[in-house]
Amino acid sequence: MTRCGVTLSTMFDRVEPAPADPILGLTEAFRADDNPNKVNLGVGVFRDDTGVTPALECTKRAEARLLERAAERSYLPITGSPAYGEAVRKLLLRPTHAAIGRTVTAHSPGGTGGLRVAADLIHALQPGTTIWFSTPTWANHPKIFGAAGLECRNYKYYNKAKHGVDFEAMKSDLSAAGPKDVVVFHASCHNPTGFDPSSDQWRELAELRAERGFGVLFDAAYQGLGDGFDEDAAAIRLFAEHDAPMFIASSFSKNFSLYNERVGAISFVGKDRTHADNVFGHLKRSIRHNYSNPPRHGGAVVIEVLGDAELTRLWKSEVSEMRSHLHELRGGLVAALRSSGASRDFSFIGDQKGMFSFTGLTADEVQRLREEFSIYIVNSGRINVAGLNSKNMSYVVSSIKTVVG
Ligand code: LMR
Repeated sequence: MTRCGVTLSTMFDRVEPAPADPILGLTEAFRADDNPNKVNLGVGVFRDDTGVTPALECTKRAEARLLERAAERSYLPITGSPAYGEAVRKLLLRPTHAAIGRTVTAHSPGGTGGLRVAADLIHALQPGTTIWFSTPTWANHPKIFGAAGLECRNYKYYNKAKHGVDFEAMKSDLSAAGPKDVVVFHASCHNPTGFDPSSDQWRELAELRAERGFGVLFDAAYQGLGDGFDEDAAAIRLFAEHDAPMFIASSFSKNFSLYNERVGAISFVGKDRTHADNVFGHLKRSIRHNYSNPPRHGGAVVIEVLGDAELTRLWKSEVSEMRSHLHELRGGLVAALRSSGASRDFSFIGDQKGMFSFTGLTADEVQRLREEFSIYIVNSGRINVAGLNSKNMSYVVSSIKTVVG
């Protein structure tokens, strides 16, 4: 900018390029790649065997009904429709759970939106709270909570050599968390490793929580895609039996295939109803200061499906098909890697659950796969199993064999 012949600098004169997002940035690079054999195993999005992310039949039927009813166009309440909140709570906790009456839920734009408003709320109520994440965790977790001003710490979770949860190390690290801290757990289908604690280990963690008094936030983005709806929510239900407060950030992106509708939720389980209502009031403020109120369509679809027994049955069977598809792909990948003669044993991939597999591929191997074969994988070696299909499986497997030897 010049004034009276003098060049004035402005605050944005010298802006360095921002780093690409470690997950969504891969999709941008994938789109720009003109290799006809390219494969995107980056972002966690379900795809069928033709490589398409399908609209579920239950949501198509629900949308047809909604269209007919020509919905009201005014704003939703700050926390979304109460019917949506109720549907979310029932699915996460089950209708008869003792904690349901002391749980409140707000519709958020995706699970990510729920995490961010929870982070802002935690910071507003207790500035600088320390929040603990597993090593590794979803790459966006520390970014979201760090951006809200919270202190991020890590607890050990994955044992690379043994390919599983390093439970003793996890417990030992979490023994340092106290009543002013919040610990983030992945409810099921741990992202990125695909390894969850066992039921006995969850019980021990619940005891540790009672002993140490730390707050808990469950991230539940994959309910139904691991072992089943109830199994994948078992840890949440167990922790909710105690009257210690906890948050649950949940998402219908994956299990309703409603990715682009941004349909998620943030729930809070309080000590009692009054406690839950008081926190809900602050949650409202956090939402109002972020995005005011949620979009309507995705939530309306979910209410329509979950409010109708026949559509709910259809939904559950469609999710069960997705789960079986992931399971088959995982088994197929392990078998194909074995018969490729690859020098490395990948059989542990068969023990993982959900959409992701932590392959153990190194950052250098990931880079070679991208540069030489146009196969896009997150730098940590995480792959989206659903990005595989009967057409690209042998190409992916022979490329992996080439880079690992
Ligand atoms: C993922 O981990 O790939 C998904 O949760 C999508 C995302 O936003 O990162």
